[in-house]
Amino acid sequence: MMSLKPIFLFRYLKFKKNTVPENIKRLFYLSYEDALWDILDKKQVGKNSVILVPELFCGDVENNIINHGYKIAYYPVSNKLKTTDEQLVRSIKKYKPAVLIIFHAVGITNNLFRKTSWLKNIDENVILIEDCVHKIVDQHKTKFLKKNHFIIDSLRKVVPLQGSVVYGQKDDLNFAEPSFFQSSVYATKITVLWMTMNIFWVLTQIFSGTRLSVWFADKANRSMKIGYDLIGDNFLPARGSFVFSFLQQFIDFEKIKKTKKRQVEFYEKKLSNLSSKIFQKVPYSKSDKSELIAYPLILPIDNASKILRLIHHQGLMFNFELNDSVWSRKQKMIYLPLGPHITERNFELVVSTILKFNHFLL
Ligand SMILES: Cc1ncc(COP(=O)(O)O)c(C=O)c1O
Repeated sequence: MMSLKPIFLFRYLKFKKNTVPENIKRLFYLSYEDALWDILDKKQVGKNSVILVPELFCGDVENNIINHGYKIAYYPVSNKLKTTDEQLVRSIKKYKPAVLIIFHAVGITNNLFRKTSWLKNIDENVILIEDCVHKIVDQHKTKFLKKNHFIIDSLRKVVPLQGSVVYGQKDDLNFAEPSFFQSSVYATKITVLWMTMNIFWVLTQIFSGTRLSVWFADKANRSMKIGYDLIGDNFLPARGSFVFSFLQQFIDFEKIKKTKKRQVEFYEKKLSNLSSKIFQKVPYSKSDKSELIAYPLILPIDNASKILRLIHHQGLMFNFELNDSVWSRKQKMIYLPLGPHITERNFELVVSTILKFNHFLL
């Protein structure tokens, strides 16, 4: 059983600590949502204010936003994961959001950050959240577009650590994380579940090829699901663990990026002849290759469930990603895994499975 989530922390770290540029402040929370609740509170965003999110977002986070007293509105995202400038401006004019979330889905740099003329249409007090949950953020490459522009990641999705870093301009982040005691029971539950999941994934690798491995994978997935459902539910936000905050500063950006670029190029080469009737590729730029959370394939809605069932029969426990989003009602997305913990054998299995269906289903 292969772990679809990052494991083996030592492969992601280096000995030298990353510095934070002078003009940037860094805060560390238990999760992206905990960071979001704290920013909204500290910036005094009124209850019932509109938070404008992309159609490709996380349904569980949307529910938590509503449960925290805010309203959700959506702007369109195409089947190629793109929003045009005009589409965003139209939505901004229609919904007049207090908060705008722009998401680098799958780690692909959002085109709205390449062409930023939409910025003229938002009030300077609107909070801009750059959602980097699918990216490993290198603080030296960050660029702030306006006052109250915050960058938030979600470490567990891209490295084997639990927590979220917020980067902001010093004047905007003029507050600190909540005290260690605030929401500490909730934080402990999340951390224990995260650790349990990791231990099960490591056991899965140790017992690879045996029945026990499948059993551990099931337990890992269950702990993950319980933890993921719980994250963001707490009304009061929690800060992240000091240990994870410390370790985050040793992430080896260069090594991870190099590995991912090589792995993406492997998939590109092996999957060059995929039938677009079954698996549609997503466009990304050359520089995005090293940033992807995974190699995405989009499945047409009609036979997506059948294809996923067949993939499961081959022992690859892929899921439809962001399956509770508005976007997912029109098509589905699966991820082929990337990262320093994926072995050559894993890659061969993934590629041979996808190619088998490519021929079989044609
Ligand atoms: C696009 C997106 N943004 C934000 C989040 C929230 O991250 P966290 O679970 O760290 O609160 C998620 C969670 O899955 C997500 O998919």
